[in-house]
Amino acid sequence: MLSVDAKLVDYSKKLESEYRAKTRRSMELYEKSVNLLPAGVTYSLRYFHPYPLYIVRAKGTRVWDIDGNEYIDLWMGHGAHLLGHIPEVVLKAVREALEYGTHFGFEHPYVVEYVDLLTRIIPGLEELRFTNSGTEANMYAVRLARAYTRRKYILKIEGGWHGSYDSLHIAVKNFNGKPESAGIPDDYAKYTLTAPFNDVNAVDEKLRKHDVAAVIIEPVMGAAGCIEPDKNYLSEIRRIVDEHGSLLVFDEVITGFRLSPGGAQEYYGVKADIVVLGKALSGGVGSIGGFGGRRDIMELLNHLKQSEAVFHGGTYTGNLLAVSAGYALVKYLASNRGLYTESNSNWDYFRRRIGETCSELLINCWPTGAGTLTGVHFTRRKPRNAREAEEYKWSKLVEKTLHLYSRVNGILYMSETHVHYLPSLVHSKREIMQLLETLTAFLEDLQRITR
Ligand SMILES: Cc1ncc(COP(=O)(O)O)c(C=O)c1O
Repeated sequence: MLSVDAKLVDYSKKLESEYRAKTRRSMELYEKSVNLLPAGVTYSLRYFHPYPLYIVRAKGTRVWDIDGNEYIDLWMGHGAHLLGHIPEVVLKAVREALEYGTHFGFEHPYVVEYVDLLTRIIPGLEELRFTNSGTEANMYAVRLARAYTRRKYILKIEGGWHGSYDSLHIAVKNFNGKPESAGIPDDYAKYTLTAPFNDVNAVDEKLRKHDVAAVIIEPVMGAAGCIEPDKNYLSEIRRIVDEHGSLLVFDEVITGFRLSPGGAQEYYGVKADIVVLGKALSGGVGSIGGFGGRRDIMELLNHLKQSEAVFHGGTYTGNLLAVSAGYALVKYLASNRGLYTESNSNWDYFRRRIGETCSELLINCWPTGAGTLTGVHFTRRKPRNAREAEEYKWSKLVEKTLHLYSRVNGILYMSETHVHYLPSLVHSKREIMQLLETLTAFLEDLQRITR
């Protein structure tokens, strides 16, 4: 009898020829691109087999490729477009900003107004600094926490993705204690400790043994497959972090503005000391990040007061375009809370239905997530952390095959190896039903071919 993966190879071949037939111009571009960009792509994540699609237009919840195919986009610019691509409210703000400039390189009033708004929406946020990416914001958050506590160790969660800053680029996919990129000396991560998600004792144990400056955590695991925290997990982490005199950093690059206008802190009612933001912070216009929190911590950046201030800077920080667009988006979100009620409940429904379908079809597959953040795991049991999400996998090919199947059927998301959807808050119930039907049809095929 053939193993599941051997059967999936045959099934994928048919899908691949359909894909190739629909996407000839993407293939031609990719052939040119492989000699221009390493692996032919701008970011390794954006490659998929046998070649990526080249997108030429995006509007609302849809994108179109160079061959004219239309897709429901569940990737939304890496989760940045909470109101879909180029929503009117953001477009208007960008058009207005462009009348005045793009990036002054001096202080401007729009930053003051934006941060003032953010402090009114995000729990515990008293001061903030902008950065140019989520990676940078995490780097500064770590630096700040180390300076504040005068401690060296950082504890991150296995599977946590905080960008590619050397000290945090560890235990994302491999849990062997080594940095995950060539070119990072082991020494650079020697003060980084790790613990599994949803395991309070493991964090407690590490905090007992080491002087830890901060525990940095994604309140809902993102890249690891949208895994939600157990009830009371975050509040327990808050409690033990306080007990050990560390700081709690919430990396809300994904969950910020997504779970609720105030992010996971508002959604779960647990406050962090430092919150890290990104993605939607610029309204989907330009690269951005931000870190902020309690005034007494943030004031360590105040070079006017500190003899040895924590340094932060950057050419494009707080640039007019990103700030104007972000302000318009966040202001809209904060005054349209009904959007959250509706979209979060639509995605709850989706997860429930997928769970039921998997159980009816006797397929080991588990929806995970919170709010709109949604993962699907093909594992023997429902994973509660990144290690389980890897160890319990029963196939090496099923996610890849589903990705190809989705592309052929007009649905796009990242990545090939992890089924996780970062939809906007404006994907309609109809689109969610279409996704449900597509996924159900795949699961039925899977049941038939693996029987
Ligand atoms: C939770 C989280 N933190 C940080 C980052 C890094 O952000 P950026 O890609 O803007 O550097 C990401 C990116 O996906 C993320 O998901």
